[in-house]
Amino acid sequence: MVNETRIWNVQQDEDEGADNRVEVGLREAGRLLRAGEVVAFPTETVYGLGADARSSDAVEKVYAAKGRPADNPLIVHIAELVQLDEIAEPPDDVSARLMARYWPGPLTIVLPAKLSALSPLVTAGLATVAVRMPDHPIARRLIAAAGCPLAGPSANRSGRPSPTRAEHVVHDLAGAIAGVVDGGPTGVGLESTVVEVNDDCIYVLRPGGISAEQLHELHPRVETVAPDAATDPTAAPRSPGMKYAHYAPRGALALVAGPPERTASYIVEAAAKEAARGRRVGVLTYAENAERYAAFPGTVQVCGSLADPASTARGLYDSLRAFDEHAAELIYAEAYPEHGIGAAIMNRLRKAAAGRIHTIG
Ligand code: TXA
Ligand code: MG
Repeated sequence: MVNETRIWNVQQDEDEGADNRVEVGLREAGRLLRAGEVVAFPTETVYGLGADARSSDAVEKVYAAKGRPADNPLIVHIAELVQLDEIAEPPDDVSARLMARYWPGPLTIVLPAKLSALSPLVTAGLATVAVRMPDHPIARRLIAAAGCPLAGPSANRSGRPSPTRAEHVVHDLAGAIAGVVDGGPTGVGLESTVVEVNDDCIYVLRPGGISAEQLHELHPRVETVAPDAATDPTAAPRSPGMKYAHYAPRGALALVAGPPERTASYIVEAAAKEAARGRRVGVLTYAENAERYAAFPGTVQVCGSLADPASTARGLYDSLRAFDEHAAELIYAEAYPEHGIGAAIMNRLRKAAAGRIHTIG
């Protein structure tokens, strides 16, 4: 348990001395990481919770701060390709091409691990390690300052929506970690895509910032592993994390799919009944449909637009957290079209819904 959580503002504002402020902040954060402390940092996807991936003492603190189950392995972040050799066996051809095309970027690749170079807590007993090179200048400079590969799960309490702003990290983890590097809001807003190449096929273990369509441009065989395959012991490969409840606001979220007009009237009617019984309700919608909720009896979160899936991805976790601020007990979320990053948006909404899915005919 840490008592005081340091916050370093490393945003490149126009203030005089900004460069020096950023430099000093990264140096201090790097020093704490080298000393085995846990420091949260921005990436292009979501904030990560960094720790020296070689040190079990350090990684142990990550699991403790998050309240994360010990059988759910962590992603290891590197700044340069030369660091890969330290932690993983040489990649197969397809993985190597994925790296050349999408690194740095929101793609995590599961590779055979060099287990002696990593804390066994990072891999949670697997023979593989999930590696990613983030496309964020602050993340890369911090890894360089720490001088080691950084284990880094999303910097939220386990089960909560991932943090896309430093304030989200502070909300979940203040007092439990040594520091937060505040680089402002993240860009993509959803986590990286996790893939594993097996028998010449790219298996998508978790949809994310790089879409299946983008992977397909590079290689003809791409298969998305169904989320519930994560609990099927005969299905392989799989991602241990996918079996856990995730990304959820405190209220119960129900996913509603159907034609926009009918979906909205179903939601408004259902919410009105609940509100009449004294329950606090919320709805998650998108710009094109927002005006259908003018009479909604609770909080309305308009999260990006259907015309711009990246805008919905960027704002999704902020919207889910906003429902908590309004103490919403019941949340209705409109389904999102499932192409491109829409697949990742729906993957997160389905997880948050934990089976509460209504399809309007
Ligand atoms: O965008 C991201 O990926 C963020 C930022 C901080 O980099 N990180 C992140 O980490 O989302 P985390 O720990 O919240 O999610 C890692 C996912 C989990 O579902 C975990 O089960 C899976 O990757 N994973 C980690 N190591 C694995 C392995 N060796 N084999 C299969 N899946 C693995
Ligand atoms: Mg996470």
